[in-house]
Amino acid sequence: MRHPVSLPHASRLVNHGPTVIVSTVHEGRRNLMAAAWSMPVEFTPPRIAVVIDKSTYTREQLRATGQLALNIPCRLQADLTFTVGSVSGRADPMPTQDKFSRYGLTSFAGPELGLPLLEGCIAWLECKLIEEAHIQDAYDTFFVEVVSAQADDRVFVNGRWSFRADNPDLHTLHHLGAGVFAVPSETLQGKLLD
Ligand SMILES: Cc1cc2nc3c(=O)[nH]c(=O)nc-3n(C[C@H](O)[C@H](O)[C@H](O)COP(=O)(O)O)c2cc1C
Repeated sequence: MRHPVSLPHASRLVNHGPTVIVSTVHEGRRNLMAAAWSMPVEFTPPRIAVVIDKSTYTREQLRATGQLALNIPCRLQADLTFTVGSVSGRADPMPTQDKFSRYGLTSFAGPELGLPLLEGCIAWLECKLIEEAHIQDAYDTFFVEVVSAQADDRVFVNGRWSFRADNPDLHTLHHLGAGVFAVPSETLQGKLLD
């Protein structure tokens, strides 16, 4: 099911604005957070901008390691996406369990950086931080470069998303606010006007 996506095609995984789950690991402690705000900004090398608020534990981990993964969740994972976006991994005092353990989630190691990638998602990108301290501080926007990309071939076929009536559980989540998501239940082919 999981297959590599060539880096020149990696931007297609986030081109349509899916909510992602950012995963990080620092000193053996893993973390996850939801992020609705991400977008591709460059094809080659593939680069993505993602907004990560100053209050998040994810940001602390990212600043420490310079690495994050973008996991793309599907319809089946709406509850867990909302949950990891509503609870911080950095409570005070620090919770004994990370969000993976607390919610019974499993991870596998990314092929390039060994980052914890979330099982059950439909695409995974490992990324390295591009240091832009001024932009990070002013706008909470982090630019990252994709170094590995994978997708589930039941829904990402020949380098493109294939959202169909026979794979509704694998459609991406698009956050409308307050835990309400839209899914791309219909696609259409645009045609050139004469
Ligand atoms: C659907 C959804 C989308 C979110 N999108 C973003 C986002 O784009 N950027 C951001 O900084 N926080 C976003 N959040 C909030 C973080 O996920 C939330 O603050 C999270 O608890 C941070 O976890 P952490 O402190 O363990 O890193 C979103 C939350 C939800 C539920």
